[in-house]
Amino acid sequence: MSWILASDVDGTLTGDQQSLNHLAPRLREMQDAGRLFLIYSTGRRLSQIISGFADEGLPQPNAVICQVGTEIYLPPYREDSRPLESWRERLLAQYRRDEALVFLEGIDGLALQPPEFNTELKTSCYLDGCPNPEHAAAEIIRRVQPASDRYQAVWSSGRDLDILPAASGKGKAIEFLIKLREMSSDQVIVAGDSGNDATMFEHFRRGVVVANAQPELLRVAEQMNHDRVFVASLPYAAGVEEGLEFYGVLSS
Ligand code: GLC
Ligand code: MG
Repeated sequence: MSWILASDVDGTLTGDQQSLNHLAPRLREMQDAGRLFLIYSTGRRLSQIISGFADEGLPQPNAVICQVGTEIYLPPYREDSRPLESWRERLLAQYRRDEALVFLEGIDGLALQPPEFNTELKTSCYLDGCPNPEHAAAEIIRRVQPASDRYQAVWSSGRDLDILPAASGKGKAIEFLIKLREMSSDQVIVAGDSGNDATMFEHFRRGVVVANAQPELLRVAEQMNHDRVFVASLPYAAGVEEGLEFYGVLSS
């Protein structure tokens, strides 16, 4: 059996160096044997993934989905790599940044994220400076609702709010990628720790939520069948490893 692990990076693979150092060679070994296709599905930019290979010991993935499912990259990964054009074009057809910005107007205390996290397909802000971040997020989500054929709002970690194309997000991007590579969604196991990972769990039958997960993802996991999502007892990469053993991908 060959597997596809689609994993978030921050707070899922990273967070405890020792446990990542334990998991990474086990993943590499499976990749080398042709039994694992490793996908990172992250909010990071590609350059932060590239630096993570050397600085954080992240194993080389077979594909990278960046900026919360709005960019897809295939190897080789370089600072000047361009994201997959077919995915980009599909998303550009429904998204306009000036329209996305309107959803954020007049929210007291909101701050836009730095320019590198605000792209042609992703409009991101911080709400932790708002008097009540949860209320501010709920208000933005309410505003986006009538335009849900073209836009979605993703709320994570009590801080980050992203306005993305409706057709994007981590779950849909993984689905697009595995179809493109003629792989099967039955092979997929997802892993995550926060709100921007929720769509991965909604799209695929097997998932691992690490023990350090944010409350918004734990709530999603609670509503799901136990055979669909495994809530690890261990945090970070150790939790991912525990989940992979639970599903029989790695031997325990
Ligand atoms: C990552 C991204 C950020 C985004 C957050 C939640 O931290 O860098 O732009 O808001 O994930 O999706
Ligand atoms: Mg995360």
